[in-house]
Amino acid sequence: MNDLKKISQSFLTKYGIDSSCINSASVIDDFLDEMRKGLNGKDSSLPMLPAYIGIDKPLPFDTPVIVLDAGGTNLRACLVTFSNQGEIIIKHLSKREMPGTHETLSEAQFYDVFCDFLKPLIRLSDDIGFCFSYPVEITPEKDGKLLHWTKEIKVPDVVGKYIGKGLANSLAENGHPNKKIIILNDTVATLLAGMAKGKQHQYDGYIGFILGTGTNTAYLENNNNIGKIELTEGVQAINVESGGFKKSPRSKLDKQFDASTNNPSQHIFEKMISGCYLGAIISTVIQTAAKDQLFSPSAKQFLEKILPLETIDISRFIENPHHPESPFKSNDFNDTDLTLLYYIINGYLKRAAKLTAINIASAIIKSGTGKSPLHPICINIDGSTYHKTAGFSLLTETYLVEILDPYDIFYRIIQVDNSPIIGAAIAGLIG
Ligand code: BGC
Repeated sequence: MNDLKKISQSFLTKYGIDSSCINSASVIDDFLDEMRKGLNGKDSSLPMLPAYIGIDKPLPFDTPVIVLDAGGTNLRACLVTFSNQGEIIIKHLSKREMPGTHETLSEAQFYDVFCDFLKPLIRLSDDIGFCFSYPVEITPEKDGKLLHWTKEIKVPDVVGKYIGKGLANSLAENGHPNKKIIILNDTVATLLAGMAKGKQHQYDGYIGFILGTGTNTAYLENNNNIGKIELTEGVQAINVESGGFKKSPRSKLDKQFDASTNNPSQHIFEKMISGCYLGAIISTVIQTAAKDQLFSPSAKQFLEKILPLETIDISRFIENPHHPESPFKSNDFNDTDLTLLYYIINGYLKRAAKLTAINIASAIIKSGTGKSPLHPICINIDGSTYHKTAGFSLLTETYLVEILDPYDIFYRIIQVDNSPIIGAAIAGLIG
């Protein structure tokens, strides 16, 4: 190991953020335990929310459905139709910022944004598949009660209320009564999109995993294993809300960073790995390295001006340390500074990738599927942080191979464009 690598590694280890500080087998045991507790209605950091979507229902062809996709960063709306040739037609797609991202909104202001945004589409179908990428407890009628906000969204009045009902009332006040709104989580939508694409593969099971602005996992569970509901036959998708996992080892820096967010102590796993936070938590790490005098005086001074960074800045630098838009593009950084920054940032990303792999592996193991090479489990992964952060998917998949090696499980990772939209359209039609 070269000297600079040694320096950065001992820094990462000193603060408990080196990937070697995480014992995968023991974190997976904790994940599985929390999943079981959540399924049985016991105290757990994983709420394990049943989706109540009938996954075996046939899809009606040539029937338009409106899709509303409230993601972490963007709000999107469109009209979707499935043809009997297997084509998915997405029309009138529009996009704006998710309301409540910057300023605090009241409930009425929040729904006004949705009604306004839906105006061009609202007469085109009575069915609305509403992909709502936040922790919602779904009812058997497929409305969803918001448990709490994540991703720093600020619309406090909506917490604890039914989102489908709120939108339906607002639409009715605007002259559009009788809309059938199906609420589902984006990971459940991603799982459904994987199912729609996976028919010829005869997969044994499906997972929808997202690592974008936020993070979360959905998988198929036997109703028999879900102690908190009455159904005992069949399977259904479970929204794990894996970003809330509380049993992962956390360093002093994770705790310090968590305390600076809008919702301290909530969704702490998400704060260690997702795009909403990666740039900021890595900035905390870099700041600490600067305080520990790892960089030259000019680099230290420059860092004070540019921190905190966004996830995209970090990704640019890791993709190419000489990237014209790298945040460290300045003569204030010498090669030693840049090399140390690279090792430190990459070291943090390695830990995030290991935690991501642990999360996916836990869902695979809990599903109990994928035992035959002829019928693997299909993992549909969506989200810009996973796919666009330089090197991240490779790191995660490398850890996944290592972690799952002793289990003899067969899996296949896929990526379906527009998964949340496709899944929400399916749910809107069959839900
Ligand atoms: C939310 C989840 C969502 C995930 C990915 C998290 O912040 O709590 O419901 O699935 O982000 O968008």
